Amino acid sequence: MVARLKNNHKQPTNIRPFLKWAGNKYRIIDRVRKALPQGKCLIEPFAGSAAVFLNTDYERYIINDNNPDLINLYNLLKKEGITFIKKCRHYFTPKYNNEEQYYKLRKQFNETKDQYKRAMLFVYLNRHGYNGLCRYNLKGGYNVPFGRYKAPYFPEKEMLVFHEKAQNAEFVLSSFEEVIQSARKGDVIYCDPPYVPLSSSANFTSYSSGGFNIEKQQQLAELAKQTSAKGIPILISNHNTAFTRKAYDKANKITKFHVQRFISCNGKKRGTAGELLALFN
Ligand SMILES: C[S@@+](CC[C@H](N)C(=O)[O-])C[C@H]1O[C@@H](n2cnc3c(N)ncnc32)[C@H](O)[C@@H]1O
Repeated sequence: MVARLKNNHKQPTNIRPFLKWAGNKYRIIDRVRKALPQGKCLIEPFAGSAAVFLNTDYERYIINDNNPDLINLYNLLKKEGITFIKKCRHYFTPKYNNEEQYYKLRKQFNETKDQYKRAMLFVYLNRHGYNGLCRYNLKGGYNVPFGRYKAPYFPEKEMLVFHEKAQNAEFVLSSFEEVIQSARKGDVIYCDPPYVPLSSSANFTSYSSGGFNIEKQQQLAELAKQTSAKGIPILISNHNTAFTRKAYDKANKITKFHVQRFISCNGKKRGTAGELLALFN
């Protein structure tokens, strides 16, 4: 459990997720870990690359996301381990690192009904596509352009670590509402929804088709109040804005801090963004 990590005085070595993921919490993992209450089972309704799952020590996990490609991949990696990893490695050679091959494989990904092939290609697209984005058009087609990386890294070690840790996890494809409502006493919930925009022109909401609007953010804040009233603690991450400070005003504790991150659309400009962690306990 988290307590074990806190009490053994050694700083745990942080584990990198094998996927690149917008808004991933690897960089602020120490803060998240410190803010999380103890419990038997950690529920993550917005898993993304699962940085928090990988870097905590609960007995059990329920890892949810509404992106079917992500959950399909996690379930396959959990079950198949090294066999699946070896098959993914096939696409990480110079032969497949060019525009022509990338668009050919992207087309195959969008057309195949074979979930095994789709999962392998999802790993390829994640590391060869532009900026590690995961974006779909309105018809659900993956539409991230080629990333032009010299030699994309194959995250073999990271995938193996994920496979081992996944034996204590259940991967669920559902909405955040359903997963939060299914929580029981003894569970702890960590919510990392798509960020609220920092300004009206900034838009970080398109992780999977469907988006995540202001009503959904409000609904999540409301659910957090109801869930903590049932004795189930819930921690939410988000940008620190006037909107989130108001939406989370019933939280028992709010921790505010700054993180350095890429904030422009072209991913080149760096800036600091105010973040917060709101604990409803
Ligand atoms: C900020 S990311 C989570 C990042 C994650 N904590 C990490 O470290 O990589 C938000 C995630 O929420 C998922 N998501 C968006 N809308 C959702 C919904 N309505 N229900 C469940 N998951 C949703 C997205 O697919 C995305 O993976």
